[in-house]
Amino acid sequence: MEICRNRTQQRLCAKIVIVTIITVATIWLIFGLRQSRDRVTTCEPTMTVRKMGQFGNQIWEYMSIYVIWLMKYDTLKAYNITPYIEEDMKNNLEDLFENLTIQSLPRIFHFCEEKDTIIVPKNKPFRLPEDISGQNILLDSYSARYEDVVNFGVNNIKKELRFRQNYIDDVMKKLEELRTEANLQNNETVFVGMHYRGGDYIPHLEGHHGDKFKGPPNYSYYIKAMDYFKEKYGNVIFILISIDNNWLADNALKITKHGLVVVNPYTNDRNRDLTLLSHCNHSIISYGTFGVTAALFAEGETILYDLELPIDYRGDTIALGLSKLLPTWMRMKNTRETNFQGHSL
Ligand SMILES: *[C@@H]1O[C@H](CO)[C@@H](O)[C@H](O)[C@H]1NC(C)=O
Ligand SMILES: *[C@@H]1O[C@H](CO)[C@@H](O)[C@H](O)[C@H]1NC(C)=O
Ligand SMILES: *[C@@H]1O[C@H](CO)[C@@H](O)[C@H](O)[C@H]1NC(C)=O
Ligand SMILES: *[C@@H]1O[C@H](CO)[C@@H](O)[C@H](O)[C@H]1NC(C)=O
Repeated sequence: MEICRNRTQQRLCAKIVIVTIITVATIWLIFGLRQSRDRVTTCEPTMTVRKMGQFGNQIWEYMSIYVIWLMKYDTLKAYNITPYIEEDMKNNLEDLFENLTIQSLPRIFHFCEEKDTIIVPKNKPFRLPEDISGQNILLDSYSARYEDVVNFGVNNIKKELRFRQNYIDDVMKKLEELRTEANLQNNETVFVGMHYRGGDYIPHLEGHHGDKFKGPPNYSYYIKAMDYFKEKYGNVIFILISIDNNWLADNALKITKHGLVVVNPYTNDRNRDLTLLSHCNHSIISYGTFGVTAALFAEGETILYDLELPIDYRGDTIALGLSKLLPTWMRMKNTRETNFQGHSL
């Protein structure tokens, strides 16, 4: 090296090398110690949820553990149980929501494997055994404890799952833009968020429910649902969001001809799409946890597609479950082509 040519420079070089080694070793040691401290704390009994599915599923998995944690707080605390979620789920959710209460402890299973685990099935009321001391609790994958969430209160859930301010600002600006484009900036306007869940979900429904699945909603369902809002409110702006481009190619034109409709204003930006739908006044959804979450957060009237299937807690039919608990949620079916009577704008 040029710089370590003469004797003085060589001594300096040696010092630099030594200092570097000491620094690296110190950092490594501190980091290592912190890790081992984690090991100790995370070996307390824990409660977590098995992460599975897409973003909407994960929101419901989070709501499930959060609601159980708060509703059973005294008992769980008495047994020294700590709730946690996996780190990537936490990062995923905190991409959209502000600081969530439940923390992530990624290394937990590694060091506490020997503990017994009580698995809470997703479709049963939450009940703990008499003695849970020293045991972990695991909520099953696809947990979507909508009954518990409704009991806990949608309002309270929204205090925990707070959209990041930058997304809210974007969305509010977008809604104002849409009003201005429609020349409704001085008029009272009602926004109806519409969501269609298609893509890989249709094969999932077919595979899961076989012949009982009567097919996805098509434009006839959306048009009938739009009529409900058009008849009830004066100026309605509909916002249709879907990532299923084939379905849009077949259905969007008929829907956009039926009212003031904006299709995919964010061209499939997951976080903004969910924030936007959640800030509409009312909702028209198909099924699936994404649309269901948005409609729940919007807290308006919700029209949902009647799948006519038993509830199975994997997201597709929790909309049906919610429609039995929430008086503002209404089921609707596709309209037969022959007796279809949509009015056009
Ligand atoms: C979220 O947490 C960060 C860091 O702990 C804090 O600075 C910020 O104020 C919190 N935001 C909210 C909305 O609580
Ligand atoms: C909007 O409001 C203005 C002023 O009140 C009214 O003249 C106009 O008819 C309204 N437009 C619509 C589409 O309701
Ligand atoms: C409709 O939604 C917009 C956007 O979230 C909100 O500003 C407005 O107050 C809502 N209107 C009603 C009547 O709730
Ligand atoms: C829409 O769905 C209904 C009910 O499944 C069906 O009768 C109708 O033919 C469908 N329309 C189109 C265009 O696919």
